[in-house]
Amino acid sequence: MLKQHNVPRHVAIIMDGNGRWAERQGEARAFGHHSGATRVREVVETAGEMGVKFLTLYAFSEENWRRPDEEVNALFALLISYLKEEVERLHENGVRLKSIGNIDRLPIDCQEWLKHVEIRTADNQGLTLVLALSYGARSDMVRACQSIAMDVQRGLIIPSQIDEALIQSRLSTSILPEPDLLIRTSGEQRLSNFLLWEMAYTEFHFTNVHWPDFSKDDFAAALAVYSERERRFGGLISP
Ligand code: FPP
Repeated sequence: MLKQHNVPRHVAIIMDGNGRWAERQGEARAFGHHSGATRVREVVETAGEMGVKFLTLYAFSEENWRRPDEEVNALFALLISYLKEEVERLHENGVRLKSIGNIDRLPIDCQEWLKHVEIRTADNQGLTLVLALSYGARSDMVRACQSIAMDVQRGLIIPSQIDEALIQSRLSTSILPEPDLLIRTSGEQRLSNFLLWEMAYTEFHFTNVHWPDFSKDDFAAALAVYSERERRFGGLISP
């Protein structure tokens, strides 16, 4: 696989289409998620090889809690298997794992595995893999507002000191650069409450491929398209 020029530093992915992919084959939705987990392994590897520094995967949204318990439980069981099976490989490949979202709401064993892998990989300097779990951008912004309001109430800051940098610093994504590229699979073209603040100037790439079919080549193709984009951030020339 060729290395691209102009590689996005931060790629965010909405991994969509697992359920439809499975149902089309007469299989249960969980089978689609299972195959999707294989694609996660591959994309993490490829992203690192291609020089991406941050990869944020929308693995479970706040709205996904509305799904039947059976599917929710299958997703968290899958996540635990992924963490158990991948922890040493991630570590050997220099990947650092982080999570964003309302992690306290996750099953306790899932929280423990996440913490374990985050600690194990904390000092790694390669790709930062961010799993968005029980994540919703609006509630993240609400939490940021509440934390700033508390500081105003305590007299630590005055309202005129509230600026974009302060709000950014209170989001769960404060340690991440803004995404350069968003990929959404399965033909849907919407943000679904993902990184709304952070994606003000992100380039979007939509593909009809369902996530369980999203190959290394599809990922490389998305990066190739991105590399030809001209980003002006509202100005006249690229910065
Ligand atoms: C969206 O497809 C996908 C999800 C809600 C879950 C994503 C989970 C994985 C890819 C596997 C596990 C993740 C990790 C990090 C190991 P959908 O179910 O909404 O599909 P549909 O739109 O076709 O119904």
